[in-house]
Amino acid sequence: MTDLTYSDYLQVDTLLSLQRPLSSATADRAVVLAEHFFIVAHQSCELWLKQLVADLEAVVDTLASESGTADIELSVELLRRADDLLRVLHEQVLVLERLPLRHFVKFRPSLGTASGAQSEQFAVLTRMIGNDRRAGALYEAFVAAAARSGLSVSQVCRLGPAAGGLHRVAEALLDVGDGLWRWKVAHLSLMSRMVGGEQGTGGSSGIDYLIRRITLPFSELRSQRGQLHAAEFAGSAG
Ligand code: HEM
Repeated sequence: MTDLTYSDYLQVDTLLSLQRPLSSATADRAVVLAEHFFIVAHQSCELWLKQLVADLEAVVDTLASESGTADIELSVELLRRADDLLRVLHEQVLVLERLPLRHFVKFRPSLGTASGAQSEQFAVLTRMIGNDRRAGALYEAFVAAAARSGLSVSQVCRLGPAAGGLHRVAEALLDVGDGLWRWKVAHLSLMSRMVGGEQGTGGSSGIDYLIRRITLPFSELRSQRGQLHAAEFAGSAG
């Protein structure tokens, strides 16, 4: 046994040295604390995004090359974890509603042009999940896994639980898509209560820009599910 400590293992000293409010040189204590809070919330988001992106990349790889039930079940487990991580990220946004506006206005100028829109990990996440116009790598890997079992997405939807692991993957994909959507809605409402109709620090129009980016991912899967209603109506009309 080594005498490794908690702090060594987690590199706590390094981690806790990374929160450096720019207002600390001039502002009063409450403003510095508020900026510290703002930094912790964003850094926590980036940490959870790191886990989320890695988990979803593993899902893409596993579904793209899967050869058995264990692979599909691993994908389901990772997708469910991703769904829970998106809930944690959602909470990270909600907690920032406790950022006093009068303190935020004091330190916001020091953010310069820094903006969440520049988050590389968030960009990777949204590319993987896709949007209402473009399927991401996750959906493409799911289609490939279904095809290897001789099924189309429409057949997976029609079979429901009888499609086994593929059905569970489809359900979990929708949970992940909805989780991202929920995060975006919460972020929009946080942003609007904090800066109203002002421009973002990243130079966007703010509210309009963010609204345009809120779409429900996995639209093809949603529409295939919707078609089950039409099939049922057609069947009962005969
Ligand atoms: C007081 C809190 C916040 C405000 C006022 C705010 C404001 C904004 C604004 C105005 C934008 C649009 C781009 C721009 O022009 O800057 C944006 C984008 C973004 N922000 Fe925030 N934000 C806040 C908190 C957060 C938090 C906690 C995160 C977590 C990492 C975050 C991540 C992002 C991301 C990822 C985008 C791009 C969204 C997309 O492309 O759909 N923001 N934010």
